[in-house]
Amino acid sequence: MLASRSLSGATKRALKRPQAFRTYAAAAPTAAFAGQKGSNGKYTVTLVPGDGIGPEISESVKAIYSAANVPIQWEEVSVTPILKGGKTVIPDAAIQSVKKNTVALKGPLATPIGKGHVSLNLTLRRTFNLFANVRPCVSIKGFKTPYDDVNTVLIRENTEGEYSGIEHEIVDGVVQSIKLITWDASERVARYAFHYAQSQGRPRVTAVHKANIMKMSDGMFLSACREVSKEFPDIKYDEDLLDRVCLQITQNPAPYSDRVMVMPNLYGDILSDMCAGLIGGLGLTPSGNIGRDASIFEAVHGSAPDIAGKGLANPTALLLSSMMMLRHMNLGEYANTIEKATLATIAEGKTITGDLGGKSSTQEYTNAIISRI
Ligand SMILES: NC(=O)c1ccc[n+]([C@@H]2O[C@H](COP(=O)([O-])OP(=O)(O)OC[C@H]3O[C@@H](n4cnc5c(N)ncnc54)[C@H](O)[C@@H]3O)[C@@H](O)[C@H]2O)c1
Repeated sequence: MLASRSLSGATKRALKRPQAFRTYAAAAPTAAFAGQKGSNGKYTVTLVPGDGIGPEISESVKAIYSAANVPIQWEEVSVTPILKGGKTVIPDAAIQSVKKNTVALKGPLATPIGKGHVSLNLTLRRTFNLFANVRPCVSIKGFKTPYDDVNTVLIRENTEGEYSGIEHEIVDGVVQSIKLITWDASERVARYAFHYAQSQGRPRVTAVHKANIMKMSDGMFLSACREVSKEFPDIKYDEDLLDRVCLQITQNPAPYSDRVMVMPNLYGDILSDMCAGLIGGLGLTPSGNIGRDASIFEAVHGSAPDIAGKGLANPTALLLSSMMMLRHMNLGEYANTIEKATLATIAEGKTITGDLGGKSSTQEYTNAIISRI
């Protein structure tokens, strides 16, 4: 109530008429891949091996790609921050490589806690305007969880909301954190969600929100989704509350296989990990960060420092993320071959890593996939 009482009349009128925001909206980015093959017939893709288990699982992906003759060459870069003008920044070489290639595969990056470092993942999102985080979660045959029929796709706004990083202490003991929602970013991610639904044959888009509580911010997010939905008459559009969606998915995820869910940043962060839990955890969950200037695909798990360098890491999540990347690059036939070999290896259950209940090393698991290609 306090917020709406303090609004000017003009702002109130603008909120009632969502089209009033349209003038701020950017051109419709669908972020389609526009890279070109080099003279050797291959696309160049930036590879950030990352920290901890990152180099081990990256090696595994490279070996599998080589066996499958995927027409890409890797340009390996480090994003370990350097000091520039008193600030920690990502090295220029890494930025230039991603800008040039417009597509990258990234291993996990360790973020030191409480040392004043900005999260590298956040920095990458901002540097390349990675506006949509796409997380599909599909039950994996042969890896038993309490749920057999999970097939969800979640698209998370990736640049603002509660992650805008605007926090301050008003007086001693009172801290304010600002959730920033803009029409521009909401419209952009909504449009990408509808495009994704259309291209993946999913007939419905559901916007997930808490507009019953955050009437202005989530209210505007919904208005943007509704406006964009008019451009896609062949896709059904509806809205649901975040808490209700959590309850319903954990009771029965099957009805969610017909749709793409789109939502503001923090809701997407939490709900996507919940969906990952339904299929067996982060070790099996891929993701893609779609941007205007580039797209970066990554596993959602961290650098697993407890098992780094021991040959125990499961490369599946990074491998499945790279499948999303291949499909983004219109190289779907290679993705299908590798995915089939990977899922068959897991389903057989003989050569799987410890986190999946097996005893095999990263190398043995990788070789088992290669032998099926
Ligand atoms: N996208 C990213 O780059 C990203 C995401 C999450 C966390 N992190 C960073 O990673 C570091 C460690 O974070 P954490 O320990 O909270 O989470 P984590 O995901 O690294 O590890 C959690 C648990 O899962 C296991 N695990 C994770 N991935 C695995 C894999 N591929 N194979 C087998 N086991 C796996 C680990 O051994 C550990 O027991 C932190 O610095 C954190 O900031 C980075």
